[in-house]
Amino acid sequence: MSSLPILRLGSVKEVARFKQHLASLALEIPCDTEIITGPESPLRRPIVREKLRIGNRIAVQPMEGWDGTTDGYPSESTFRRWQHFGRSGAKLIWGGEAVAVSHEGRANPNQLLAADHTTASLARLRAVLVAEHVKATGSEDGLVIGLQLTHSGRFSRPNAHDRNEPRILYRHPLLDRRLQLPPDYPILTDVDIARIVEDFHRASAIAWKLGFDFVDIKHCHGYLGHEFLSAHTREGNYGGSFENRTRFLREVVQGIRSIAPGLHIGVRLSAADTVPFTTDPQRATNGKAGPGVPADVSNLIPYRWGFGVNATTPTREDLAEPIRFLTVLEQLGVHLVNLTAGSPYYNPHIQRPALYPPSDGYQPPEDPLAGVARQMQMTRQLKQRFPNLIIVGSAYSYLQDFLPYVAQAAIREGWTDCVGIGRMVLSYPEFLWDASEGKPIQHKRICRTFSDCTTAPRNGLPSGCYPLDPYYKNSEAGERLLALKKG
Ligand SMILES: Cc1cc2nc3c(=O)[nH]c(=O)nc-3n(C[C@H](O)[C@H](O)[C@H](O)COP(=O)(O)O)c2cc1C
Ligand code: SF4
Repeated sequence: MSSLPILRLGSVKEVARFKQHLASLALEIPCDTEIITGPESPLRRPIVREKLRIGNRIAVQPMEGWDGTTDGYPSESTFRRWQHFGRSGAKLIWGGEAVAVSHEGRANPNQLLAADHTTASLARLRAVLVAEHVKATGSEDGLVIGLQLTHSGRFSRPNAHDRNEPRILYRHPLLDRRLQLPPDYPILTDVDIARIVEDFHRASAIAWKLGFDFVDIKHCHGYLGHEFLSAHTREGNYGGSFENRTRFLREVVQGIRSIAPGLHIGVRLSAADTVPFTTDPQRATNGKAGPGVPADVSNLIPYRWGFGVNATTPTREDLAEPIRFLTVLEQLGVHLVNLTAGSPYYNPHIQRPALYPPSDGYQPPEDPLAGVARQMQMTRQLKQRFPNLIIVGSAYSYLQDFLPYVAQAAIREGWTDCVGIGRMVLSYPEFLWDASEGKPIQHKRICRTFSDCTTAPRNGLPSGCYPLDPYYKNSEAGERLLALKKG
């Protein structure tokens, strides 16, 4: 990485200057110089595949808030967030947020649960989203809403924010140590897995009954679905060969087909990964974390604990297996694919490029624009290879003021089918809609990647955009976060 300080994008006013900056970093990111508005906007073009019609190219990424009740119901702030998802103008709502298929698989004690007792409240979440969407855009035509179904696997914390209760598929030489797991820590058995597959079926039946258009069988960010794909060292039916490592996906999909035949299926996939990163203690200054450095894996080559990583140089991605995985999805009739990378737990700069790290993170080891470019290039490559899949790209929020210019160019040039936005939806849900409508942009609402929406939950508080959304800024949780940050 260059030793020059990272240029704060908030200080860049002109698109031409932004493009110059990209060139100086030798990064290939498409960027238009003018925004096209109204029906001619590439962002407003519908997309149709099979029986699915999505009314425009804007997608809301799943964004959970750690703000449900301990028995899995949404709270007032969960409803508010789903209203914002609707207000965004996006016609593809990818999952809303991670919803656990069982209590033991929750990532935190406030994660939503897909269960009989929460059914009516999940229906209300969908309903408030649709109502707000109609208010903002005038119609629900082409609105496609999914529910992201998850089991948190290695990162399960169902009962207390500060107590890991991992459900692991194999021993990971680096992550087991981080989670302080003893060598005899139990591994999920094939019988346990059969029960989890049933949980996904049950949750999908609920989504189908409630009128969700699709379910996302989450395979990203280090959670259980993703861990299956790297279970090279596991024995039995779910480990070792590629066929075994994708068996969970096939079993879940086959069951859904028979239980909910009209329900579409999507998969959010961490298509590329790298090794776990830590903060460099040698370079920590004034109580500030040092830059991220990759774990030393020199004694772990060939590296057998990742998916989409190069086994001999695991800091590099390798898309050979992700390509096989997308081929399987196509064969299974899964047409909706959301591409992401890495994990928020062990390499957050890969997953959500940011200028400021969360409290348990590290300073960016690269210009965050490199992280944006990496995900965009990966998505472009896979899109070229799979023209018939509907592909959603991720990690655009760091682009800040230049998001509409890049998003428009990415769609126009076919790098992706839909532009998925995450953090920006927390601070400024209507940003891409406003831009493609020709409305003035509210610069003060643009996400500057302060990472408070991650720092808060890492410290047992609900997530939200504390710096920019008055709802959180002025809340009791806001005061507590401020106190925490002051140390
Ligand atoms: C507060 C927060 C909550 C998130 N929740 C989820 C989630 O429930 N499911 C998921 O797949 N990704 C989740 N993500 C990841 C985002 O969907 C997205 O991939 C990531 O933020 C990068 O996109 P962005 O640059 O637009 O923010 C979350 C991210 C943040 C910051
Ligand atoms: S807290 Fe707000 S500004 Fe910071 S990263 Fe999250 S959404 Fe963006």
